[in-house]
Amino acid sequence: MKNFILILATPLLLISCSETNIDSQAVQDNLSEVKQTVTFESDIMAINQKHCFSCHSGNTPDGGLFLTNFDQVLNSYQNGNSIIRIQDGTMPPAQKPRLTPQEIQLVLKWQEDGFLEAE
Ligand code: HEC
Repeated sequence: MKNFILILATPLLLISCSETNIDSQAVQDNLSEVKQTVTFESDIMAINQKHCFSCHSGNTPDGGLFLTNFDQVLNSYQNGNSIIRIQDGTMPPAQKPRLTPQEIQLVLKWQEDGFLEAE
């Protein structure tokens, strides 16, 4: 009986292991190869909400810069200001959590893909 269960369980284990491997491999891969197209709605909005909203929204946004909707974000990313500040690490300011390498890659891929709002 024990052997029978082993025989049944082994292929299942192998399948779940290989799936886990594929997933973690995908995460390690260059995101630009994994993700088809980066858009504001699918990725960038969430990054801005997480990292920029706390200061660049409300009645008196820091630096006079709103980053609360697509047009404002587009403008500040297209003219280079936000991307420069993200890349040189000065935005978000030093006391705030850094963007992860994946998030930075998504921002750069968004630029590469032409700052699309949605697919
Ligand atoms: C803790 C508050 C805080 C957070 C979070 C923050 N900023 Fe800022 N930001 C500021 C302050 C204060 C200034 C004005 C002083 C300066 O330029 O350093 C500023 C200025 C800027 C400027 C220059 C002003 C302009 O109009 O071009 C840009 C671009 C910018 N932030 C982008 C971002 C982006 C993008 C994020 C998120 C990834 C972000 N900031 C997150 C506080 C913040």
